[in-house]
Amino acid sequence: MRLTDQSKELFAASLKHIPGGVNSPVRAFRAVGGEPFFVDRAKGAHIWDVDGNDYIDYVGTWGPAILGHAYPDIIDAVKKAADHGTSFGIPNPFEPRMAKLIKDLFPSVDKVRMCNSGTEACMSAIRVARGATGRDKIIKFDGCYHGHTDSLLVKAGSGALTFGNPDSAGVPKEFTQHTVVLPYNDADAVAQALEANKDQVAAIILEPIVGNAGLILPKDGFLQKLRELTSQHGTLLIFDEVMTGFRVSKGGAQELYGIKPDLTCFGKIIGGGLPVGAFGGREDIMNYLAPVGPVYQAGTLSGNPLAMAAGIAALEALKSGEVHQRLEQLGVRLEAGMKQAAADANLDVTFQRCGSMFCGYFGKDPVYNLSDAMKCDRDLFTRYFHGMLERGVYVAPSQFEAGFISAAHSEEDIDKTIEAAAESMKHIRD
Ligand SMILES: Cc1ncc(COP(=O)(O)O)c(C=O)c1O
Repeated sequence: MRLTDQSKELFAASLKHIPGGVNSPVRAFRAVGGEPFFVDRAKGAHIWDVDGNDYIDYVGTWGPAILGHAYPDIIDAVKKAADHGTSFGIPNPFEPRMAKLIKDLFPSVDKVRMCNSGTEACMSAIRVARGATGRDKIIKFDGCYHGHTDSLLVKAGSGALTFGNPDSAGVPKEFTQHTVVLPYNDADAVAQALEANKDQVAAIILEPIVGNAGLILPKDGFLQKLRELTSQHGTLLIFDEVMTGFRVSKGGAQELYGIKPDLTCFGKIIGGGLPVGAFGGREDIMNYLAPVGPVYQAGTLSGNPLAMAAGIAALEALKSGEVHQRLEQLGVRLEAGMKQAAADANLDVTFQRCGSMFCGYFGKDPVYNLSDAMKCDRDLFTRYFHGMLERGVYVAPSQFEAGFISAAHSEEDIDKTIEAAAESMKHIRD
């Protein structure tokens, strides 16, 4: 039994003051039951809770910690930047450096605007897409998450051409009436929707690799088909690479699949663990933004010097691509071990992976979209999650979240994780 006294006390105090005791819902462990632990510190691939328990971490602060926690160059950069002041509200020298680094790694980006979260990045990309095309509708896919903006909080409708319904209370139906939701990996549905809404669709936004319904890869040719269809229809293609950017390769999913979107959304890794977002793309589109053009977008803390300094240190460490080779090796090792552990326990687990992002679905069939993902056995996942936690491995507290390996994970960490998985799976039906 792990000691969790202080975490329990802190959670009880949080429940009194914060809705659900957390500042972002998944953290509450509601999908898996139990209570969250409170983190005291993190270093490399490990986190320690306030009761002194040590966990090998595969959440990696939901993606940003690709180099491991408290990466020395990032910590140094933040400390140095903080000595000069934490925010100025007028340009600072980190901003053009950050923009240039993003552009160097993402050749589809001519101009980029920094903001403060992935949510803001997606919201603003949609706005500029609408402003530039003069069209209102957007297409998104079920299972893709683009932050908690009203018009993007939409789940799948009943049919390919059905207008979406709000996924959240508090979002008026009118705010989502321009959002068309389609099944991921279904290019025919996209072709039909573009025909049915001719000259009305400003943009298609998607996670080119879906990390918010587990881990779903695009089928062969799906992204190419989207590129062709959007070009034919004068619709912009927006890749939400908040999660995949700088993660699945140094140039994101667009580098991996050789696709040039019109706009790209960023977040997570580009802040090195500090709050950040960005969106960028074709110059003619980005020039619709104020102060050059008529589309308004702004932010008191946008381009914040601490976030920029941290992000620059992260991108400098990633730009050679060597880190990604190491991540792939670790990913291969983890995948092989997890598949073996499931086979030894006689369990159907579909392990899907791209580099350092992965998901083990408790089900036997490959997952291509949200409805496939929903077929997996969430009760088994819950038992697996608690089995892993008991054995000192922290995976995301939901079947529908991707796991993240960092460059700080050692081979020993991976092997211990596989051992923990083998043990957890062996006892999963007990
Ligand atoms: C693909 C994707 N887009 C957007 C977001 C929203 O980013 P943020 O949580 O920084 O607002 C997330 C967050 O997980 C994400 O994974």
